[in-house]
This record gives sequence, C-alpha cells and structure tokens, in this order.
Amino acid sequence: MSALDKAKISSSSDPSETTSLVRGPSDQQHVTVQLMVAVGTAVIGSLQFGYNTGVINAPQTTIESFYNETWFNRYSEYIPESSRTALWALSVSIFSVGGIFGSFSVGLFVNRLGRRNSMLIANVLAFIAAGLMGFSKLAASWEMLIIGRLIVGLYSGLSTGFVPMYVGEIAPTTLRGALGTLHQLGIVIGILMAQVFGIDSIMGNATMWPFLLGFTFIPALIQCALLPFCPESPRFLLINQNEENKAKTVLKKLRGTDDVGADIQEMKEESRQMMREKKVTIPELFRSPLYRQPLIIAIMLQLSQQFSGINAVFYYSTSIFKKAGVTYPVYATIGAGIVNTVFTVVSLFVVERAGRRSLHLVGLMGMAVSAVVMTVAMALTEKYQGLSYVSIVAIFIFVAFFEIGPGPIPWFIVAELFSQGPRPSAFAVAGFSNWTANFIVGMCFQYVEQLTGPYVFIIFTVLLLIFFVFTYFKVPETKGRTFDEISAGFRQNSGSGAGKYTPDELNALGADSQL
Ligand SMILES: *[C@@H]1O[C@H](CO)[C@@H](O)[C@H](O)[C@H]1NC(C)=O
Repeated sequence: MSALDKAKISSSSDPSETTSLVRGPSDQQHVTVQLMVAVGTAVIGSLQFGYNTGVINAPQTTIESFYNETWFNRYSEYIPESSRTALWALSVSIFSVGGIFGSFSVGLFVNRLGRRNSMLIANVLAFIAAGLMGFSKLAASWEMLIIGRLIVGLYSGLSTGFVPMYVGEIAPTTLRGALGTLHQLGIVIGILMAQVFGIDSIMGNATMWPFLLGFTFIPALIQCALLPFCPESPRFLLINQNEENKAKTVLKKLRGTDDVGADIQEMKEESRQMMREKKVTIPELFRSPLYRQPLIIAIMLQLSQQFSGINAVFYYSTSIFKKAGVTYPVYATIGAGIVNTVFTVVSLFVVERAGRRSLHLVGLMGMAVSAVVMTVAMALTEKYQGLSYVSIVAIFIFVAFFEIGPGPIPWFIVAELFSQGPRPSAFAVAGFSNWTANFIVGMCFQYVEQLTGPYVFIIFTVLLLIFFVFTYFKVPETKGRTFDEISAGFRQNSGSGAGKYTPDELNALGADSQL
C-alpha cells in the first residue's frame, strides 16, 4: 500500500483503523541509519537553540556581578539597580531579536542554497557568537556579551526554520510527527545541558562563566563535521531543482528500499498543485483568502507557545525559585529541565496516536491550572514555609504540560498546514510571531514581576485560557493527512464560511476528543 493511500485512510473517521495502519508490520517506512544520521545532525541546531535559551538562567547573579564590577571600573561607582535590571533584561531578550531576523531570513536561504547547505553556512554565526561571548569577560565588555547573544539568536532563528523543514522533508509521512518532535527534544536537551553546566561547581561561577557561554562553539564544530555526510532534502531536489534522479537516490538511501515510487508520486502531486497555485510571497500569503485560515492558526499556535509563559520559567526560574523560598534554586531549575526532557519523550510517543489538536488542548488547560496553583503557593509562601515545595511541583507540572502540547505542536503543524508553494513564507511568518512573543516575555517579565509580585503568572493563565478557546473552535486535526488533503480541507472551509468543518472533519474531531 502506498504512503498516499495510507494517509488518505488515516484521515477517515475510524481512529482504531488509523492506529493499526500507522503501526502495521507491513509498513515500508522504517527508520534507517541514513535517516537517523541526517535527523540527528540537523537537530544539533535545535540543541544550540535550547542551550542558548537556558544558559543565562543559572549564572544570572554571577554575570550581574560582572556587570556591576565592569560598571565600577568604567564609571567609578556601583551599577544602579535599574541599570542592572535593564542590562540583564536586554542580555536575555536580545537573543530573541536575533531570532526574529534569523527566522525571517530562512526563506532567503533554503530555496537557493538548499536546506542542508543553509544549515552548514549558519554555523559561521555560531562561531562568531561563541567568540564574542567567550571573550567578553577578558575584554571587560558587556557589549560583546550582548552582541554575542544577538548573533547566536540570529543563528537560532535560522535553525528553528531550517531544522523542522529539513526533518519534515526527509521523514516518511507516517513518521513526520514523531521525527518532528525530535526538534523539540533537541531544544530541551540543550536547555538541560545548559542548566547542568550552569551549576556553581561546574561552569556557573565567576571564573568559568565565559566558557559556559562560549560552549556553543563545540556543537557548531560537530555539526559542520557531520553535515557533508547528510543528503540534501529530496523535496528540494525534486521540486526546487527538478533533479528527479538525485531525489530518487536520496530517497532510496533514506528509506532503505528501492521502492520509492509512492514518495516521488506524493511530491510530484504536490509540485503539480504548486504549479497551479504558484510560489507565494509573504505579502501574498497575507492577502490571499485561501491562506487566511491556516495562517491565523499558525500564528496563534506560535503565540500560544510563547505567551504560555514557558520562557519566563526557562530564562528566570532560578530567580523565581529563590523568591518562592526554595533553598537550592539551581537544583529546582535542573529539576524543571529534567521534567521538560522526560515529557518531551512522552509526547514523542503519543503525538502520532492522539493527534495534534487534542494534545495542544490538554497541554494548554494543564498549564493554566498549574499556573493558578503556583500563584496561590507563591502568594502564601511567607505564611506557610512548606508551600515552596508546592511551587516547585506546580512549575514541574506546568513544564510537563507544555511539552505535551504547546511545546512540540506549533513547530511542525506549520509544515502540515501549508504545501510547498507557501511553506517557506509561512515558516518565516510563524517564526517571526514566535520570536516576537519570546522577546516580549524575556524583556518584560522582570518588570511585570516587580509590579505584580507573585501574581505574575495569573497573566499567563488568562492568555492560556484564550488560546484554549481558540484551539477548540478553530484548529482542525492534521494527524496522518497529506499536505494536499489538509489544504483541500481549508479550501472547502473558506467556501462554506470560516470555522465550519466538513462532515469528515467533524467525525475526526469527535472521535479525537474521546481519546
Ligand atoms: C554592586 O556591587 C557592590 C559591591 O559588591 C554591592 O554593594 C552592590 O549592591 C552591587 N549593586 C548591584 C545593583 O548589584
């Protein structure tokens, strides 16, 4: 049975049939060594993104002292409290400014250079950033650190476009969801590594922190060494370059079988579709009513990921735990990193079975509830000492639910909502939304916290509930369906009015909510 047929059947209304087909023994779409090497090498980019997200959390106090000393040496006075907060918020969040520009430039690279070579070239940025951040202490310059954060953000922005695109395009249809989650797994392992390396006795101290920041050099080196052994995306070869033979050769290696007719067929079908709909630029994406619905969904899901408050935890958890009266806040931060990694693995196993929409809904609601518990515990912690443990557990649960839904799902649902023509533009827009929201949270969190005290997470609770309602009413299930079928669904929808589903889709949604 071809991948195309299978995908068609799995979009039918019987969920048990879908499950058995996806996991059936006659499945030609097994994981080959070639595929694993290519995916593994690509997700080093995700690891870098995670590492640099988590790396400024634990050594906050240490690096603030460096700012204080440097300020004293320059201006012969200690740094004012407000300048310290501002400089730190900037050091944290300028990473996302880099991310905004990086993610917006993805489209400039992928269609000209190919997906693999784009990833290779981006490493130049990682090397420069590692140098700037690693030598900032030696040069007594917080400017170098901040510019380094900007550049590594640029690299990360590019990666969050390159990696899911490359992985999505080399993965067989039935494994697209599971392999797509590896991008998220790379991110969380990166965060965890940064948190562990950030312990005082490892690199989170006054002498070693430049190595902690400069460490980014090493994954970059490894990725540069491995990428030449990875194949170019077959979709890029076939559709952008019209090199069918090369695409076939790559597919045979990736799938470990000579029977790649179905894959080629699916891509050609997509290509024909593309000829009809032409290449879509970003302004066109916004103007065309055809893309309005999927675009709104893509943007809202990205916003739901960032405005869930997750990065308030990953940028500032050590200081949050300190305020909640936790004795060893760095270890609680590492605990959050471990929970984060474990639940990313859990979601890797359930994502293909339960469907994206249900997982996203469960994740949002779970985060909202634990944010309320966390707020209550933090507000009462001065009266009842034991409540600091409740805060820890609530943050762990908050993180766990993030990884069930809002963590992994927005990243690859974009790839599933758009066909080849509009996809690079859609990725750029989704990435832009994600990074802008990321910047807002990173920049404002400390200030809002100064205003609201322990009630800061109530703001995220309200946002989480809004995103829950949106997802419930507007987001269709994309599980096991080809790009073509999904976009056909939207075409029907835009004919029959926004938010309406076809009978088939209603069936699928109904079946899903019972899982
Ligand atoms: C800067 O360092 C001095 C001396 O260690 C300290 O007294 C002061 O509180 C520090 N200022 C800030 C804003 O951290």
